[in-house]
Amino acid sequence: MTQKDQLGVGVIGLHEGRTLLVALNHIIPANVGAPTEQVTRAPHARAVAGCDVREEKIAAARRDCPDLFYTTDYDAMLKRDDVDIVAIYTPDPLHGDHIVRAFEAGKHVICTKPVVNSVEDARRVLEAGRRTGRQLLVGQSTRFFEPFQRQRAAYEAGHIGALELLDAHYMHRMDWFYDKSPWATDQTDWVYAGLSHPVDLVRWYLGRIAEVQAYGRQSALAQQYHAQSFDIYTVNLRAADGRIGRVLGHYGVHELPSARNAIELLLYGTDGSSQAQYHDMRYLATRPDGAEIREDYLYHKRAYYFNNEVHGMHYGEFANYTEYFASALLADRPYSPNIEEGIETYCVMEAIKQSAQGGQPVPLAPLLADVGLSP
Ligand SMILES: NC(=O)c1ccc[n+]([C@@H]2O[C@H](COP(=O)([O-])OP(=O)(O)OC[C@H]3O[C@@H](n4cnc5c(N)ncnc54)[C@H](O)[C@@H]3O)[C@@H](O)[C@H]2O)c1
Repeated sequence: MTQKDQLGVGVIGLHEGRTLLVALNHIIPANVGAPTEQVTRAPHARAVAGCDVREEKIAAARRDCPDLFYTTDYDAMLKRDDVDIVAIYTPDPLHGDHIVRAFEAGKHVICTKPVVNSVEDARRVLEAGRRTGRQLLVGQSTRFFEPFQRQRAAYEAGHIGALELLDAHYMHRMDWFYDKSPWATDQTDWVYAGLSHPVDLVRWYLGRIAEVQAYGRQSALAQQYHAQSFDIYTVNLRAADGRIGRVLGHYGVHELPSARNAIELLLYGTDGSSQAQYHDMRYLATRPDGAEIREDYLYHKRAYYFNNEVHGMHYGEFANYTEYFASALLADRPYSPNIEEGIETYCVMEAIKQSAQGGQPVPLAPLLADVGLSP
């Protein structure tokens, strides 16, 4: 494949971001049963550079991907001609600044979730995207995990009819995250950090959300770590067309994975129901005759998604969305979630935060207008 058929990717933030470098550059067995047949996960993208302010993070990435350009200076990465797409995995409050600087350097951007976590950054990012004409994909990893892709394809093929109710959650005990990333205690809110997964899933299916009603609470774990935000959320969402959904999140929970996977999306339609799970990689659905079918990809796809780690990092999802975005850019095709959708999802999360704090339902229209989206 020639240079023209591929886009170069430079990653900033090499903890979660190291996963993307490895996923792009490592060749893996095509299938568990065919170890001699090798594939690359993303033929239209290649890793070219990595940036982190911590030398030990660069050293770890260099061990896995030795032939790339590494730097502690973001501007040095932005100056490189071989970087077409900047992929951002820095702490939540830095995303806005890192996106705007990439746009102004002429780069396209993949930004991990949440794309931003403040009204000011939502405005700045949207304005910079419109001014520079650069493209941005929000790295909503859950959409790009095998069962969620299967569920979407079946929904689009009409298998469950018209949607009547959605139910999504992300439950995960986060003591390890507070220890690893102390910024999570006071520089973001679990509504952006964790709840962004189920909120994005619901918005993906319901489209424009008109109003949310939320309750929030702090768990014992959040109090122990002096976290500033609620880490337990329960939310009802009403779409502009009247359909409804529910979102649940708990980041101090004692997990019960046999009963409930970390992330699940249940779709209830006029003709059937379906459920996608992370991270057990299962997809469940009703057949037209009413029987329940259960597809389990964990063993077949574990090399692709988890790099053969046991329920490991997001290699497969990150490669899937990078390949999808790079192919869309090369072919000038639309893609989702783009910058406007990402900022709209931010507004839904902001409305949830305000509703949980104020105890009242919060309409979306004023927030959308405030950040520069048409209400
Ligand atoms: N499923 C997913 O898509 C998923 C999963 C985990 C984390 N995330 C997101 O990825 C982001 C990073 O999470 P993490 O767990 O890797 O956090 P982390 O704190 O472990 O890592 C952040 C990295 O960014 C580096 N960094 C900080 N400031 C920098 C700067 N100015 N320039 C260059 N590097 C800088 C740090 O040194 C660190 O290595 C967060 O926004 C998080 O929400 C997404």
